Amino acid sequence: MAHKSALIAADIEGYLKAHQYKSLLRFMTCGSVDDGKSTLIGRLLYESKMIFEDQLSALEADSRKFGTQGDHLDLALLVDGLAAEREQGITIDVAYRFFSTERRKFIVADTPGHEQYTRNMATAASAVDLAIILIDARKGVLTQTRRHSYIVSLLRIPKVILAVNKMDAVGFSRETFDAIVADYRAFAERIGLADVVAIPISALRGDNVTEGSPNMPWYNGRALMEQLESVVIDGHPRSRPFRMSVQWVNRPDQDFRGFAGMIASGVVNNGDRIRVLPSGKESRVGRVLTPNGDRDSAIAGQSVTLTLEHEIDISRGDLLSSAESPAGVADQLQATVIWMHEEPMLPGRPYGMKIGASNVVATITSLKYKVNVNTLEHVAARKLDLNEIGICNIGLDRQIPFDAYAENRETGSFILIDRLTNDTVGAGLIQFALRRADNIHWQSVDVNKSARAAMKGQKPCVLWFTGISGAGKSTLSNLVDKRLAAAGKHTYLLDGDNVRHGLNKDLGFTDADRVENIRRAGEVARLMVDAGLIVLVSFISPFRSERRMARDLLAKGEFIEVFVDTPLAVAEARDNKGLYKKARRGELEHFTGIDSPYEAPEHPEIRIDTTATTPDQAVELIFAKLSEAGILNTG
Ligand code: ADX
Repeated sequence: MAHKSALIAADIEGYLKAHQYKSLLRFMTCGSVDDGKSTLIGRLLYESKMIFEDQLSALEADSRKFGTQGDHLDLALLVDGLAAEREQGITIDVAYRFFSTERRKFIVADTPGHEQYTRNMATAASAVDLAIILIDARKGVLTQTRRHSYIVSLLRIPKVILAVNKMDAVGFSRETFDAIVADYRAFAERIGLADVVAIPISALRGDNVTEGSPNMPWYNGRALMEQLESVVIDGHPRSRPFRMSVQWVNRPDQDFRGFAGMIASGVVNNGDRIRVLPSGKESRVGRVLTPNGDRDSAIAGQSVTLTLEHEIDISRGDLLSSAESPAGVADQLQATVIWMHEEPMLPGRPYGMKIGASNVVATITSLKYKVNVNTLEHVAARKLDLNEIGICNIGLDRQIPFDAYAENRETGSFILIDRLTNDTVGAGLIQFALRRADNIHWQSVDVNKSARAAMKGQKPCVLWFTGISGAGKSTLSNLVDKRLAAAGKHTYLLDGDNVRHGLNKDLGFTDADRVENIRRAGEVARLMVDAGLIVLVSFISPFRSERRMARDLLAKGEFIEVFVDTPLAVAEARDNKGLYKKARRGELEHFTGIDSPYEAPEHPEIRIDTTATTPDQAVELIFAKLSEAGILNTG
C-alpha cells in the first residue's frame, strides 16, 4: 500500500486522475467448489495491494484459525468473508469486488462453484466482458466446467481465460496442462467459444498470477494479471443502437414530463428521433437531464431523464429506442432458458417475466428440447430441472419490446419469476419472435358472451371445486349441478375423471401432465362461460399456480373457488376407489397427498370442511354464496 498512500497524501488530484482514465474490465470467475476460485481472487486482490493493513492482520489470524493452508496465508478467507461460508467451506452468493492496478480497474463477480448455484453465475454473467474458467489441474475438464462454459457461450461473454490451477499439485507438468487445454479447446470450439487463452497457474503459490513462474519455464505466455490488464474489450454497448427502458415517468407539474431510466445501450443526443415501444409512436428528444444537469448527449450505463418533443403516452416498462434501428415487438418468442430452481420448469405454467423494466406473464408454450451439456445433444423433454438448459417457445400476456440476445445483451435477456414466492427461477435469452402469432387474429363475433347469457337468463361463471382425491368434490359438484338444473339454469359439469377419458386421455399424473390437465380444463371452462353456461369444474387441481391461471382466464367475479377441505386421513379412510391402498402398496405413483403434493387454497371464495358439514349443508353454503354473487337472481 505504501506507494499509493504516499501518492494519495502528496497528490490526491493526480491519484484520482490516474484512476479516472483507466479502463474498466468486468470479469467473472467460474469453477467447481475446490478449484481454488476464492484463493485466486484473494491472490489478485493481494497482489494488486488492495488489502489494507488491518485486513491483512485479521487474515493472518484467521488463516491460523480456519485456514486450510497450514502456515501460509489462506487467501480464500479474504474472499469468503461470511462467517457461514467459513463454517461450511463453500461460497454461497455472488459478490462483486473492486480492485485496481497501475493499468486498469477491475470489477470481479465471484460466482459460487457449487453445482446448484448456476443461477448466480447467469445473474452475474450478463454484465461481464470476460470469464475466467478455473480448472483443477488434477481433475481436468468436468461436467460443471462444460456447463459453465456453455452458459458463458450462450451469454456471449466475449473473452475467456482458461486458468488451469493447482499446477504445483501436478509437478508443474507441461503434459498435464497441454492435455487439459486440448480437451477443453475441443469442447470450446463446438460451443463457439473462439477467444480462449489458457494459462497454467498456482493461485496458492502465486505462479503465473502476476509474474511469470520460474517453475514453468516452458510457458511463454502472459501471467494472468498481465492478460487481464491487456485484453482488448470491444463491442461496448455504446456502439449498439440506443435503448432505454423507462423506469418511471417523472411528472412534477403540468409543464414537465420526463422519462427516467438507465441507458441500456447506445448513445442518445438532443434532437434524436426516438421510437417508443410497444406503441410504435415516434418523437424527438427534447432534453437530456443527468444528475449533473442538462447535457447534449448521454451513453450506455448512465442514468438519465429524457423529455420528448411530443406528448406521447408512455408508461413504466416501455422502451425508448432509436427510430433508425428500433427494437422488435412481440408476444411470442423463442428463447434459450437456463433453469435455476429446484422446482422444475413446467410448460403450461404461468411465470412472471421481467425484461427491462416491464413485468409480464409468460407461459412456456412448448419445450422444444433440452441440451446435454456434455455431449451437446438435443434431448426431448417435458420439463427442465435445476441447471438444465432448454430451447422454448414462450407466450406472453401482452406485447413487449425486445431485441435478439445476439444483437443486444441488455434488451435480449429476461428472468423468470415464480409468481407465488417471487423467487427467480430461470434466466432467458431471446432468439427471435415467433411470427406465427402475427398470422392469427381475433375474429369478432356478433353473438357474444352477454348475448348468450341473456338468452339463457343467467350470469355465467365457473364454480371450481378443488381438493384431494376422495375429498367429496364429485359428490358435491353433482348435487349443486342437480339443484341448479332443477332451478332451470344451464350448466355443465367438467369432472377430472371424465375429462381424462377423452380430451385429456393423453395425460398422466406427473406434475407436468397435471399442469397441462388444468390448463385445458381452464380453457374449456372459459369457452363454456363464453357460451353463457354456469360451469362446475371438479378436478383435484393440486397446484396454486394453475388454479390462479384458470382464474386469470376469466373476468373478475366469474371464478368461484370451492375448497373441498378433507384431511388426508379421512379421505384415505373412505378410499371409495381403493386408490389410496394401491398407492400405499407402491402400485400407484405420484398419488396426491402421498407422493405428490396438494397445495391448499389460501383464499378460496368458499371452504367446505367436510368433517363438520353434511353434503346438504355444503350445498346450502354454496347456494348462499351464488346468490350473494348475483348468479341466481337474474332472469
Ligand atoms: S389433477 O391432479 O390432474 O387435477 P384429476 O382431477 O384430473 O387430477 O384426476 C384425479 C382422479 O384421477 C382421481 O379422482 C383419481 O380417481 C384418479 N387418479 C389416478 N391416479 C391418480 C394419482 N396418481 N393421483 C391422483 N388421482 C389419481
